[in-house]
Amino acid sequence: MTQGERGPTIVVSNRGPVTFSLGEDGERDHSRGAGGLVTALNAVVRRGEGVVWIASAQSDEDAAVAKEPAPYEVEDLRVVFVEHDAAAYDLMYNTLANPLLWFVQHGLYDLPRSPRLGDDTREAWESGYVPVNRNFARAVAETVGDSPAPQILLHDYQLYMTPLFVREELEEGVTGAFISLFVHIPWPEPDLWGVLPSYIRKGILESLLSADVVAFHTQGYARNFMQTAARVLGAETDSENGTVRYGGRETWVRAYPISIDPAEFEELAGSEAVLEQEEFVKGLPGKLLLRVDRTDLSKNVVRGFEAYGRMLERHPQMKGEVTFLAQLQPSRGDIPEYAAYVEAVGRTAEEVNEEHGTDDWTPIQLFMMDNFPRSVAAYKNYDALLVNAVRDGMNLVAKEAAVVNEKDGVLVLSEYAGAHEELGEHALTVNPYDLDEQADALHRALTMPDEERKERGDGLRETVMQNTIEDWVETQLKDIEAYRQRNR
Ligand code: G6P
Repeated sequence: MTQGERGPTIVVSNRGPVTFSLGEDGERDHSRGAGGLVTALNAVVRRGEGVVWIASAQSDEDAAVAKEPAPYEVEDLRVVFVEHDAAAYDLMYNTLANPLLWFVQHGLYDLPRSPRLGDDTREAWESGYVPVNRNFARAVAETVGDSPAPQILLHDYQLYMTPLFVREELEEGVTGAFISLFVHIPWPEPDLWGVLPSYIRKGILESLLSADVVAFHTQGYARNFMQTAARVLGAETDSENGTVRYGGRETWVRAYPISIDPAEFEELAGSEAVLEQEEFVKGLPGKLLLRVDRTDLSKNVVRGFEAYGRMLERHPQMKGEVTFLAQLQPSRGDIPEYAAYVEAVGRTAEEVNEEHGTDDWTPIQLFMMDNFPRSVAAYKNYDALLVNAVRDGMNLVAKEAAVVNEKDGVLVLSEYAGAHEELGEHALTVNPYDLDEQADALHRALTMPDEERKERGDGLRETVMQNTIEDWVETQLKDIEAYRQRNR
């Protein structure tokens, strides 16, 4: 199929590129959607012509937009909002997707005690996750209409049932539809996937294998996925060619490591808002140790603070010579585990500050609020960046920070962050469970000779520049074309 014969391109994710509100003057206003996924997709969608982005309505004003003729044009985007029943959305988001799937895929459960699955889980699946996914599929089918050969690019774990439902919902005349689903979070080992009740375990895999391509950020996740499909469904897998055969069809399983738009960050780095925040950042005493994350259990913030405390204990000469700036963006506050985690984060920071702080030195400066310009200002100035996630699909902070940093800052990186497959050789690798190893790595990062810092810093930057968001998109488009050629 040639380029010209391709139908419309539709991107679907739970969180949209923008969210609307009503200003005090009664005028409709909008702001950017939260999270790394949206930032990355934004960069992609703005490049393609006529791409329609379907997402859940998040605010009352989004719901008002959803009632107007679609797609709604804003900046250079064409958006379709899907309005879900509030109770169904709550079950999908706060019971099924975020605690259960997110926890299983990031290995966050204390398995001897949790989860405790039962009727509530089934209810959240049947009355939340499934209908919300059905709504997405209907919105896709409506947007496609009777156009042939649409490309439907679905994103992330909130939408696992959508591939199957799209196949069911598309009008009969629609031929040559290409469907992919990109999983932006880790795919766990088969045993961990087995924590899920069997109807979810199988239901999700069957839906994913009705897509043409299932994509991940690393080869490791792609391998885990194929092993899980073989174990749970008895699917036939070919790991060399990255294919899974099930139910008479073939799905390609691929790894496309997501990246960033370096030009966007270089521009941001010089912006007024960032320069203003730089005054604050530069005013912090001593060297700058930085972390920038959502307040998520997977990010391992508590152990990061504890490791820093140990480093100060073992190397008292570092006291007053370093400040740990933690910029944490509030996230998923309605989920009890998250609320408890936020408290633990605050408590641990206080303990370290009480134990080691002095009148004129606060060891940890903790901010739990949105302040993107300050994060970028800190990206420019850190001496060491801590990314110690328990597991992380990719972690774009590591990439964003590397391209604008001006200090040859050292990256201390968890071996279980997706970014480790690409950046590991230039970083100091840590086991996120080992406090002493992290304490040693922080000390080494903060005292590393200039020459080694430069070598590692250059390595990080070059690696990111070699695979930008542009490359991420290009590789996927080529594979879509190849898939279509093979299967027409
Ligand atoms: C991660 C997920 C995204 C999600 C984002 C923000 O990056 O992979 O799908 O949108 O976190 O989380 P939220 O629950 O606020 O959408």
